Amino acid sequence: KKPPTRKGSMADVPQELLNELKTCEDIFTVSDETSRAVVKHFISELNKGLSKEGGNIPMIPGWVMEYPSGKESGDFLAIDLGGTNLRVVLVKLGGDRTFDTTQSKYKIPDGMRVTKDREELFAFIADSLKAFIEEVFPDGVTGTLPLGFTFSYPASQDKINEGILQRWTKGFDIPNVEGHDVVKLLEKHLKEQKIPIEITALINDTTGTLVASLYTDSETKMGVIFGTGVNGAYYEDVADIPKLEGKLADDIPKDGPMAINCEYGSFDNEHLVLPRTKYDILVDEQSPRPGQQTFEKMTSGYYLGELLRLVLVDLHSKGLILKNQDMTKLNQEYIMDTSYPAKIEEDPFENLEDTDALLKKDLGINTTVQERKLIRRLSELIATRSAHLSVCGIAAIFQKRGYKTGHVAADGSVYKMYPGFVERAAEGLRKIYGWTPGPIDEYPIKICPSEDGSGAGGAIIAALAQKRIAAGKS
Ligand code: GLC
Repeated sequence: KKPPTRKGSMADVPQELLNELKTCEDIFTVSDETSRAVVKHFISELNKGLSKEGGNIPMIPGWVMEYPSGKESGDFLAIDLGGTNLRVVLVKLGGDRTFDTTQSKYKIPDGMRVTKDREELFAFIADSLKAFIEEVFPDGVTGTLPLGFTFSYPASQDKINEGILQRWTKGFDIPNVEGHDVVKLLEKHLKEQKIPIEITALINDTTGTLVASLYTDSETKMGVIFGTGVNGAYYEDVADIPKLEGKLADDIPKDGPMAINCEYGSFDNEHLVLPRTKYDILVDEQSPRPGQQTFEKMTSGYYLGELLRLVLVDLHSKGLILKNQDMTKLNQEYIMDTSYPAKIEEDPFENLEDTDALLKKDLGINTTVQERKLIRRLSELIATRSAHLSVCGIAAIFQKRGYKTGHVAADGSVYKMYPGFVERAAEGLRKIYGWTPGPIDEYPIKICPSEDGSGAGGAIIAALAQKRIAAGKS
């Protein structure tokens, strides 16, 4: 989606507000110099994450040790536990770089993200799988169905069919899951309910995106998510992953590839290079996990609306905007999700009538046209910063691997829905590299819409795992 071209000027916005806006422009704009410094530090942090000592960025080996050939075939189930929905997919891999999918979505009940009882979450997943199987296999299932479980949180793996949750991200906060193997937690419910499914692989969404896109496009170098969270995956050489030393079975080739789920949302938790604003610090302090996911908190969809809200509340407390308005709603944390700045940037009207209606209806506030122009400009600033910073992870991986060109398979709500994000991300890369401005499709690094990572990707990875098992490999 592209944002509408703007004709309106800011000329009628009062000076004191323009001054505040100028400050926001200064703090939210990422200079080329800063981006390059971020990339440089990023590369050293990626390497640290691969070292024996480890670092801030987890760099989790995903135990996908081959590139898909495109010939993988068969029927697989895949599930994706996202922020709002659980998606269940039946994937038929064609064996000729094609696939078909049938899917259903099950809304994650309110409150489940922070339930006190972990069993509720896994029972919900099992129930949904059961309902899905009954729907697509009305005559029952012969044998067991292999399942690729896309679990988009940092989960450590010593093999492909396990995932020990390191810590929740993106607002999930359920006790007694951190430190546990989510494959086992789900298997228990599958068994109890006699659901004929075997969890063949646990996958991060980025790894799924990487592999699904590589199945159809051999230029793919990375899978990235610009969504509720921000993260990337790529193939590393096993020989360049010092922390795997001593962990590899004898039959695993030491000169082969290994998919890595970077979990780079946690980049710069020590706050050395990212240009954090006071609003970023507030977001962090108010989150259930302060001090974690610093990069993600500045860039991902879970936080963009909240950042905007915090700026508005700040300007209101200084007596500069929304005078005499009832702030009850706007004072609620996370009341504005990313769809707010997205809709505001999409508002085609000179006087931002859609924005006016939106803020009135949802938040009970009346705004002047000048205030709305300010809010739109703030949305642009916050979302542009998100795009320009998030691509630093891409540049870091490309530079680390020595890739000069290639495709980056991208997915996620911000990438797909936020107006102008695609162009801004390409512009961010262009600035880092100093490329001559031109059509974004012609830049050496091209961010492309991915194949269905958590569906097809999950299935392909499950197929690769099955093949290893059938060949008697570890
Ligand atoms: C968060 C998760 C990560 C996931 C990303 C995108 O960063 O920790 O596992 O890939 O969000 O969904």
